[in-house]
Amino acid sequence: MGYNVDSIRKQFPMLDESKKMQGHSLVYLDNSSTTFKPQCVIDAISSYYTDLTANAHRGDYDLLYRMDVEVLNTRKAVARFVNCDVGEVIFTSGTTMSLNQVAYGYGLKHLSKGDEIVISEEEHASNVLPWFEVAKKTGAIIKFVPLTESGIITETNLRSVMSNKTKIVSLAHVGNVLGNIHNVSMMARVAHEYGAIISIDGAQSVPHLKTDFKSWDIDFLSFSAHKMCGPTGIGCLIGKANLLTEMDPLISGGGNNVDFHIDGSVEYLSAPAKFEAGTQNLSGIVGFRTAIEFIESIGIDNIHKHDREMAEYAMEKMKNIDDIIIYNKEAKNGIITFNRKDVFAQDEATLLNSKGIAVRSGQHCAKILDNFLKCKATVRISTYLYTNKADIDRFVDVLLEGGDILDAYFSN
Ligand code: ALA
Repeated sequence: MGYNVDSIRKQFPMLDESKKMQGHSLVYLDNSSTTFKPQCVIDAISSYYTDLTANAHRGDYDLLYRMDVEVLNTRKAVARFVNCDVGEVIFTSGTTMSLNQVAYGYGLKHLSKGDEIVISEEEHASNVLPWFEVAKKTGAIIKFVPLTESGIITETNLRSVMSNKTKIVSLAHVGNVLGNIHNVSMMARVAHEYGAIISIDGAQSVPHLKTDFKSWDIDFLSFSAHKMCGPTGIGCLIGKANLLTEMDPLISGGGNNVDFHIDGSVEYLSAPAKFEAGTQNLSGIVGFRTAIEFIESIGIDNIHKHDREMAEYAMEKMKNIDDIIIYNKEAKNGIITFNRKDVFAQDEATLLNSKGIAVRSGQHCAKILDNFLKCKATVRISTYLYTNKADIDRFVDVLLEGGDILDAYFSN
């Protein structure tokens, strides 16, 4: 059976006609920021509170044991989804926490003065600021891979910033502004050739594209559940087993140690428990597994194809609007970033909001991309598995009529 967007949409309470914004039925095109949740995920989260409430890994009674099994089953689901070993899956609060764990747990331990960290100007704040901080503390130097005119990281450009001082390469698989799909296997091969490790920010890719941690041969992968129909406050860091053994935990406390003594000595558990101090987001873990199963039931390749179709449908229409400037015409994912000539991005987003259309505007947390874009702020639409042509038509209608509305507004 083909892709049935209508039946998918029916499973999302937020897509019900009753949900209004500014009196209009809602068109949600901000899926790179966060996604709506299907009823099955909402029910799974709720089941933790109604049927399963217990801590995990801290007791010897049946209810708690059931929770241990839930946690293990989500770990197995994540491992299946991204193709890694179950013991390589660490639960975190999301991509930001995962990237900080790599920077502070691995970077701080392994970097020395003069060592080099390679990132790009396209990176989101969560893949820039931890490296800035770790560089300040260690004396390491940050280098930026030059992007091509369309924002791609080519092998030649990556090699141009690599040296025998490069210790860490940390790049997004898909950037959250330009939406290009970078060649992760190539980036891993180049990083390893120079003896560096590679950490991939998968926040914008794991929800949309098939992920293969093992065959890509990457060292770390970070992503969040809330961008893939799952709950907020839960995500993963995937790390190669040998690197997890040598990495220090960013946070310590209950549940991550075997023993500690009055002289200050500590024996940590092995990964993943070493990195999961404190009571975990257990309702989130239960909901996360249901989100993965929901995505698997549709098929990640079908989701990618649908994303592309929606973005291409939008792109074709947007290209024909005179005063619309598109910054990523070549992107092969569901992100389109644009501006209207001489209109500030937030004014455009406010106009769209007034018609019930949710988009993101501003710098999208990628605050060093302005040199590349040659402007401070842009408007971004981002599609997902429930976006339909009617959403795009409503959005494009506002773009078409918006020129007149904005002209009238600014001429007064
Ligand atoms: N990183 C998220 C976005 O791009 C928040 O909107």
